[in-house]
Amino acid sequence: MKSFKDQIRLLLPGKMKGYLLNRMKDLFSPALAIVARDSISYYEDGLLLEGKNAEFLANPLFVSSYLAGESTGSWNNDVIRWRIHILCWAARHAVHLAGDFVECGVNKGGSALAVTNYVDFGKLDKKFYLLDTYDGIVDEDISDEERSYGIDLYKYEDCYELVKVVFQEYQNIEIIRGRVPDTLRYVDTQKVCYLHIDMNNAAPEIAAGEFFWDRLVGGALVLLDDYGFSKHYVQKRAWDRFAAQHDVEVLTRLLQLQRG
Ligand SMILES: C[S@@+](CC[C@H](N)C(=O)[O-])C[C@H]1O[C@@H](n2cnc3c(N)ncnc32)[C@H](O)[C@@H]1O
Repeated sequence: MKSFKDQIRLLLPGKMKGYLLNRMKDLFSPALAIVARDSISYYEDGLLLEGKNAEFLANPLFVSSYLAGESTGSWNNDVIRWRIHILCWAARHAVHLAGDFVECGVNKGGSALAVTNYVDFGKLDKKFYLLDTYDGIVDEDISDEERSYGIDLYKYEDCYELVKVVFQEYQNIEIIRGRVPDTLRYVDTQKVCYLHIDMNNAAPEIAAGEFFWDRLVGGALVLLDDYGFSKHYVQKRAWDRFAAQHDVEVLTRLLQLQRG
């Protein structure tokens, strides 16, 4: 049987192997040590797990997918394995449904690449639509109330050319540049089974939710990256109103909205 390290080596994308193997040592070796103990098994990204199993951290396919996503630079120095685990799980679920994948808020492609790697998206008879301005949040979309919570333009760089390179091997991924909601009309599918929304401000997020709601197939999942963050409270309230109007509830840090 192959060792854990050899399994990971086989799964890592060729071009990035050196970088990723080194990074794996930093990030995943301590995790492997702690999953076995019945104490704190996870403490990252404001989330602490005590006395709970976090064995997903050692799943070789998850490790390689996480590292591929991280290598894009989309997450700066944030370590967000739990979030990416949820996306990968949701993507695996969506593979069994009819319809296509959509992500609104892509940045350099981190979460989208982790997911495509995890489900081997290139081999699926589905499309993945990636929508972003690819140069940051639209200033006038940020409300005064959001600003009062500390939402600003952050420091997004123009990353359109970079994202095209990241996904160049995928024939079934469509990169759509421009402001949501203006670009939503270019998503030429009537069926969506996976919708990840991560734009850091409420107005375009809710517009995307309204646009896609009737296109979600039964069992489809909507994942809201920012919902649980106190800084993003205005988004939370907007999504809570949206959920109430559609007679569903949002589950924090898990499957945040599910079309019944
Ligand atoms: C947090 S980043 C996305 C990170 C990405 N999901 C990941 O995990 O790798 C937020 C992105 O939303 C994009 N964005 C914000 N408002 C937008 C809008 N109205 N239309 C399109 N993109 C937008 C920004 O350009 C930025 O790249």
